[in-house]
Amino acid sequence: MNYLVVGSGLFGATFAYEAAKRGHHVTVIEKRDHVAGNIYTKEVDGIQVHEYGAHIFHTSNKPVWDYVHQFADFNRYTNTPIANYNGEIYNMPFNMNTFNKLWGVVTPEEAKAKIEEQKASVNLGDKEPQNVEEQALSLVGPDVYNKLVKGYTEKQWGRKATELPAFIIRRLPVRFTYNNNYFNDPYQGIPMGGYTQIVEKMLDSDLIDVQLNTDFFDHKETYLKDYDKVVFTGMIDQFFDYQLGELEYRSLHFETEEMDVDNYQGNAVVNYTDAETPYTRVIEHKHFEFGKGDKNKTIVTREYPKDWHRGDEPYYPVNNQENNGLYAQYKELAEKQAENVIFGGRLGQYKYYNMDQVIAAALETVTTEFKN
Ligand code: FDA
Repeated sequence: MNYLVVGSGLFGATFAYEAAKRGHHVTVIEKRDHVAGNIYTKEVDGIQVHEYGAHIFHTSNKPVWDYVHQFADFNRYTNTPIANYNGEIYNMPFNMNTFNKLWGVVTPEEAKAKIEEQKASVNLGDKEPQNVEEQALSLVGPDVYNKLVKGYTEKQWGRKATELPAFIIRRLPVRFTYNNNYFNDPYQGIPMGGYTQIVEKMLDSDLIDVQLNTDFFDHKETYLKDYDKVVFTGMIDQFFDYQLGELEYRSLHFETEEMDVDNYQGNAVVNYTDAETPYTRVIEHKHFEFGKGDKNKTIVTREYPKDWHRGDEPYYPVNNQENNGLYAQYKELAEKQAENVIFGGRLGQYKYYNMDQVIAAALETVTTEFKN
């Protein structure tokens, strides 16, 4: 079989690797000038720069953790972001360090009592929370909400918390320990030498031909005619020329700066949780590798959320009821009108996948496609 894989991100690369392993020819086309999709990292001053935002691999899926280790060794990085609220520093996720800094409480019992007192201070009556503000207040009370949730969430979504549906914040992780590890998964780390090598190794086969700077939509009909099967990891609504309407995405704008200092902020990820700072996060890349790289240089990236319009990078699907309903219609259309196309990955399946989930989904597709 001759496969065309559209997109060289983790989904496309995993599929291409597995298809070539089974003796199939694969052409991978990629519209960007590099492989690896959003996990792309580039070395600058000996530092692996996460070009499309902070990427921390974390998973509970042991087979996926073992799988990805074929392509890279991982360090023992643990995600411990901090929040900067107008110059006040708090640990995340909300834990005993956060509560101690906010209220001076020392024991879990004191912290629990304080949170109950905070929750009781907002009187929502018996009604269900109607928006993010009410939801967050009912979960953690006003101090945590005002300093650590409100501004960040409003910047992220570009709307007032009172105008955002409550389901966006189903729960706010509150921990009554002094553990700053953001994730609960047993496996976590960053590939030593960056993420790009993973995809490069996956695509390094005589049976795989990679074409960069090549957009599927420039020759859609020819591609569909020339290949037995297409694996499409771009936007499913764009594939169908938005004929049922546009799915909603959130986009981002990254500003990266090289600085002549060894250590700018002392942590890989700092969230800015006030409403006035226009960016949500500042990433200092060298800390993903414990300060590796040039001692007199550092690279930081500021992350600005923005609305998505046609032509922007669609970083996040917005999985609300309306969009999920529209996606279901596109999926139905795909089943009827695009039998030889497999839609995969974050954009093809319109799902807020993490890296481990994308690998798992691609491997599932491989099993379905090759029956082994
Ligand atoms: P991905 O978007 O990576 O790849 C699709 C590729 O297709 C792109 O290279 C694109 O250019 C190409 N393409 C699209 N249309 C095309 C066309 N018409 N023609 C040719 N090529 C086309 N996950 C995690 O586990 N831990 C983390 O910390 C983070 N952090 C994070 C931060 C930010 C800011 C984002 C946006 C995402 C994350 N993620 C994450 C999620 C992670 O990036 C994601 O799971 C994978 O990169 C998804 O891989 P895909 O292959 O699905 O898509």
